[in-house]
Amino acid sequence: MKQELEKIESAALGETASCDSIKALDELRVKYLGKKGELTAILKQMGKLSAEERPVIGQLANKIRQDIENAVSKKMADLKAKEQELRIASESIDITLPGKPQSFGKLHPLTIVANEIKEIFMGMGFSIADGPEVEYDYYNFEALNLPPDHPARDTQDTFYITDNILLRTQTSSVQVHVMENQKPPIRIISPGRVYRSDAVDATHSPLFHQIEGLVVDKGITMADLKGVLETLMKKLYGNDCKIRLRPHHFPFTEPSAEVDVMCFNCHGEGCRICKGEGYIELLGAGMVHPKVLEGCGIDSSVYSGFAFGMGLERIVMRRYNISDMRLLYENDLRFLEQF
Ligand code: PHE
Repeated sequence: MKQELEKIESAALGETASCDSIKALDELRVKYLGKKGELTAILKQMGKLSAEERPVIGQLANKIRQDIENAVSKKMADLKAKEQELRIASESIDITLPGKPQSFGKLHPLTIVANEIKEIFMGMGFSIADGPEVEYDYYNFEALNLPPDHPARDTQDTFYITDNILLRTQTSSVQVHVMENQKPPIRIISPGRVYRSDAVDATHSPLFHQIEGLVVDKGITMADLKGVLETLMKKLYGNDCKIRLRPHHFPFTEPSAEVDVMCFNCHGEGCRICKGEGYIELLGAGMVHPKVLEGCGIDSSVYSGFAFGMGLERIVMRRYNISDMRLLYENDLRFLEQF
């Protein structure tokens, strides 16, 4: 039995010395010292020994257990220290290395200017209305005094989904939704995407953005319209900015006007950018047609209103001197990072 004990000791000490992982060392400890371990198994047989042998072997066994325990815990301390050293080495930071640059996203110029316009209108007491981009013919055309077969429909090349459903060609459709759901006084703007079946070039895109405005109340006149638009343009382009209204025709407004803004480049003198005009056309506007009011259940003998619609792209291009509309949609970072 003495020999067996000594064999266990030398095996245990040898394996402990060559052990190189905390997990394996733990397994070793269980293997030799655990309840079902080899040393315990031997000690269980002590009963078979004679009375003289028992204390001798008992003492030896205890000494061996102690030796193995010491060896294991010393080794454990070594391994833990080594592990910590490795971790510290791997986590150390070289503060002389260059930093990793953080690139921040930016707002798209269309969004920047749309936000700015929204701010300006909110400052004048307008709220923001939303409407569907996939629209019934009724809201895009018919309720706006453009019955089927009206020739003016031809001027807006439309993406039809069915005979009755289309991608809206103008944000004017939102006028109808708002007037159906809200009684005067109404003061809203509605920014959003619109669609026309146009080929892409420097000034056209099948998808673009408009911002519609609508005011309906008692005693609203064309002078209110002019005042609101003048305020907008002065805030957008500076205090010396002038606008002019030219008579025009829209089926849903009467009278109607196209609104031009003084050329930012030549300040009205006439140059290449405004094609010698001194002014640049920026939006359509007018007094809401009584038929449109009545169609939405608003008494046109009590209430009047004005509406306007402007192309956001044109305003943005004017603002940043962008000559080609396609740049706004190509998502080229070299372009977008400039704003
Ligand atoms: N919806 C018109 C267009 O797209 C613009 C407009 C809006 C004109 C509101 C008058 C009133 O051309």
